[in-house]
Amino acid sequence: MNITDIHVVYFSATYTTRTIVREIAKAIGGNIIEHDVTNALPESEITLGGDNSMLIVGAPVYVGRIPEAAAEALKMVHGINTPAVAVCVYGNRDYDDALLEIKDTLNGNGFHTFAAGAFIGRHCIFPKVAEGRPDASDLEKAAAFGKRCAQLLADAAGTDALGNPEVKGNRPYREAHKVPMCPTGDKEKCTKCMTCVRLCPAGAISESDPCSTDTSKCIACGRCVVVCPHGSRAIYLPGYADAAAKFTAAFSARREPETFF
Ligand SMILES: Cc1cc2nc3c(=O)[nH]c(=O)nc-3n(C[C@H](O)[C@H](O)[C@H](O)COP(=O)(O)O)c2cc1C
Ligand code: SF4
Ligand code: SF4
Repeated sequence: MNITDIHVVYFSATYTTRTIVREIAKAIGGNIIEHDVTNALPESEITLGGDNSMLIVGAPVYVGRIPEAAAEALKMVHGINTPAVAVCVYGNRDYDDALLEIKDTLNGNGFHTFAAGAFIGRHCIFPKVAEGRPDASDLEKAAAFGKRCAQLLADAAGTDALGNPEVKGNRPYREAHKVPMCPTGDKEKCTKCMTCVRLCPAGAISESDPCSTDTSKCIACGRCVVVCPHGSRAIYLPGYADAAAKFTAAFSARREPETFF
């Protein structure tokens, strides 16, 4: 198959998923068309057909699933027996059913998922876990994964000649639930620059008071903490330090990317 157009659909609040899918797309090689669905659904349905297009989907793992907003966005992406690669990025605990959820959704939407990978990114709620990841070794593995995908595509006469990998995960998937770890701002540090207001995927921070958070909307994605230029936003909840220490002790043993063909 001669793939010229690589569409990359990703949700990535703290940018680790974006880093991984970009590395994979670059290694496959071609005309890369990005669809960032972190802050908004695609403007219209995306349909990828013809012999020359493929799709890479990347989403982070939230409590063993993909974020609800990512699942909503994926409903708008359709293939016509189009080759696809499923990618999840998780914070070194586990990815549970997230990769399977992506694969099932893609295959249900007319794609043929011929490769899948689970990669590791810094844990955005407990950032001492997987700190600095994806690192150089992760990026090498992402690039090697992309090259293998490119080879499989080049060797296949058509989509039906591609494999159909089993990926780890169970059905029914884990029940999705929210994590009550909402960041807020420190008024002493906040300059009201509005970066967090603009970039919050859930619209949970208001212009009138960027140091507070609408906890009914917040998805605990960690983006406001990462993008605040003044270190104002953080999780200041009582009990957070203890929870972070316990989580870090339990889940710091380094995990490595897993790929499926
Ligand atoms: C609400 C929430 C739930 C999470 N659940 C998990 C999980 O079940 N397993 C895990 O290993 N990491 C979990 N993480 C960590 C993220 O998967 C990880 O930080 C990922 O790299 C974030 O991707 P991003 O940088 O593209 O946003 C969770 C993060 C959030 C915000
Ligand atoms: S307020 Fe919540 S949803 Fe918005 S960026 Fe911060 S963590 Fe994410
Ligand atoms: S990004 Fe930081 S400094 Fe800017 S408005 Fe938000 S909390 Fe304040």
